[in-house]
Amino acid sequence: MSQLLTIADLKERARRRVPKMFFDYADSGSWTEGTYRANEEDFAAIKLRQRVLVDMSDRSLETTMIGEKVSMPVALAPTGLTGMQHADGEMLAAQAAEAFGIPFTLSTMSICSIEDVASVTTRPFWFQLYVMRDHDFVRSLIDRARAARCSALVLTADLQIVGQRHKDLRNGLSAPPRLTAANLFDMARRPRWSMAMLRTQRRTFRNVVGHAKGVGDLSALAAWTNAQFDPRLSWDDVAWIKEYWGGKLIIKGILDEEDARHAAESGADAIVVSNHGGRQLDGAPSTISMLPRIVEAVDGRTEVHLDGGIRSGQDVLKAVALGAQGTFIGRPFLYGLGAMGQDGVTLALEIIRKELDATMALCGKRLISDIDRSVLAQ
Ligand code: FNR
Repeated sequence: MSQLLTIADLKERARRRVPKMFFDYADSGSWTEGTYRANEEDFAAIKLRQRVLVDMSDRSLETTMIGEKVSMPVALAPTGLTGMQHADGEMLAAQAAEAFGIPFTLSTMSICSIEDVASVTTRPFWFQLYVMRDHDFVRSLIDRARAARCSALVLTADLQIVGQRHKDLRNGLSAPPRLTAANLFDMARRPRWSMAMLRTQRRTFRNVVGHAKGVGDLSALAAWTNAQFDPRLSWDDVAWIKEYWGGKLIIKGILDEEDARHAAESGADAIVVSNHGGRQLDGAPSTISMLPRIVEAVDGRTEVHLDGGIRSGQDVLKAVALGAQGTFIGRPFLYGLGAMGQDGVTLALEIIRKELDATMALCGKRLISDIDRSVLAQ
């Protein structure tokens, strides 16, 4: 394939470059993967209204997310094990996002640490928090995010119980990954990936290993991870986390109007309408289908963002038209990263930027703030 013009092109290149175990980890949803598919299909079903003979000079994609200026309404979503798509993946993705002028969100379950990412960026990034049973560890993560001058804490609310992904079980994907003969053979067949991985010092879960009690090295990580996701997490925890953090708080994983109202009442600065990219409750509706009623439910009391299924600039425009202030992308940037490292993340963002710009113009709009339901065909 000589030309990489779409996110789907990047996905196919990543499929060739990244060991199957890690490519499948990105490209999978829970159980039947029905919700994963619905996220994409429901975007495709929305049609746009073509407008003509409108002055389309002086266009701009600039807007804000939680008050921060962004060059387009897109942030990089937190994704675990990003450093396994490409060596130093979190650092490379953060650098690409910074150069592009959009937010990067670092996952608790990342390979590179908060400090690693801070060492290669100057723009504040966002930190995604999983609440673990060990609240001392949770507080220490928040302290580290504050010390690194992260400008928002993204509290993920939809992973108290982990949704099962069949591909991961079949491939032996765990934390740390099981190095079976088949997996090692597959890695040996991807020399670019393997050479980059051999060169880096960062092959461990650096937010956790050496920081959490009882996790001095990788061998203890799997048991710790399985035991630590806290099924008791509740709205009461949101209150103490918000107070302890003291900065901007985004609650991610809202898919229901009642939960959205709760989140607004909890004082969150924003929510992310999300079903974890179809990786948690299989059978849940797509995020774009739920967006309008969630926007209505919160009634401007908190900012509403969306992720799940965005594969193009057209999809970003549709989400904004239905009331999202901003969007997050997960797999699109992971495919770019797996395909070509930092350049691939930049290319993924460039593809989305160009599509969004042209689509906005062809719908007769010049600014993000002009986009509303009038761009949608009934
Ligand atoms: C995720 N997601 C996720 N979310 C989170 O809050 N913390 C995490 O560690 C992860 N890890 C993770 C790994 C991988 C491989 C994927 C694909 C996703 C969910 C992510 O933040 C986001 O909600 C979805 O990726 C959005 O859907 P798309 O853009 O991937 O369709």
